[in-house]
Amino acid sequence: MEMLIVGGSGFLGAELVRRAVAADHATAATYSSRPPRDRGQPVAWYRLDLREPVQVQRVMAEARPQVVINASSGLADWGVTAEAPLRLALAAARSGSRLIHVSSDAVFSGRLVHYNEAQPPDPVTPYGAAKAAAETGVRLVHPGSVVARTSLIIGGGRSEHERLVRQLAAGTRAGALFTDDVRCPVHVTDLAEALLELAASQAHGVHHLGGADALSRHELGFLIARRDGLDTTRLPTGLRAESPHPDPLDVRLDSRATQRKLRTGLRGAREFLSNDRSCPPPGSGSDVRPGRS
Ligand SMILES: NC(=O)c1ccc[n+]([C@@H]2O[C@H](COP(=O)([O-])OP(=O)(O)OC[C@H]3O[C@@H](n4cnc5c(N)ncnc54)[C@H](OP(=O)(O)O)[C@@H]3O)[C@@H](O)[C@H]2O)c1
Repeated sequence: MEMLIVGGSGFLGAELVRRAVAADHATAATYSSRPPRDRGQPVAWYRLDLREPVQVQRVMAEARPQVVINASSGLADWGVTAEAPLRLALAAARSGSRLIHVSSDAVFSGRLVHYNEAQPPDPVTPYGAAKAAAETGVRLVHPGSVVARTSLIIGGGRSEHERLVRQLAAGTRAGALFTDDVRCPVHVTDLAEALLELAASQAHGVHHLGGADALSRHELGFLIARRDGLDTTRLPTGLRAESPHPDPLDVRLDSRATQRKLRTGLRGAREFLSNDRSCPPPGSGSDVRPGRS
């Protein structure tokens, strides 16, 4: 299958690229500001700023993908996160390409705590509003697309969440791990595999790809620190409710309906952090002892 991974230089995008190549898909991928360092893989790389319509058209015309997976992220930047995915969705619809658009549990406020695929977005942050706007537009202009919402993405020590835990444990960064901020973290390999499964299927509409366990940020940080042999007592705790950043508190993606359609298991963080081998932080020379309690 000809596949285009938009945001292939990102954390999730890089895993998608690796797995697409391993599965023998003819793989093209895009970066925006960080050209990929590993050019050893058989991947056609394109520089792409999704805000530029001409670039979107050029990449689509040259890559001619059967499937596009949009793993780009512009955080709360409205132009990148809300508007740009519509440009890609329009181009995919016009060229008859399948589209898998990655979204986030940030589209929910947490008022209901448990959210299945039928619940409408009720975002309370600029990032959540941008992701919700993109979902709405993508589904309107490309009704056959999949909108795949996920939660905190973890894996191999490379995620921003794992970096934060290392920095907090080392005392090199201020901050706290909230005990009242609950999500359903997912492993990046499970997520990438599930997205590729959806890409190869006839599925369309909203799908939830959260991990099976609901954990607070502090519980998650504790498990990461324990896996990496860090001193768990050094992790500062706090309350999201008392923080100046009013993110939603308790948002649990109910992914059971999507899980029933998939061969790939969406493991809970308690399971994958008990045996996920972390990479030492680049240049740290630290002694990482996976699984030490
Ligand atoms: N990380 C999480 O915990 C989490 C949680 C829930 C949902 N998600 C969703 O999962 C997806 C992937 O997240 P991630 O953490 O892997 O993101 P990431 O590591 O920050 O990567 C973002 C990607 O988007 C690209 N990008 C940025 N601006 C762009 C632009 N204007 N045009 C085209 N590409 C652009 C980046 O390219 P360069 O790096 O080359 O500039 C990079 O490849 C996103 O949809 C995100 O909302 C992530």
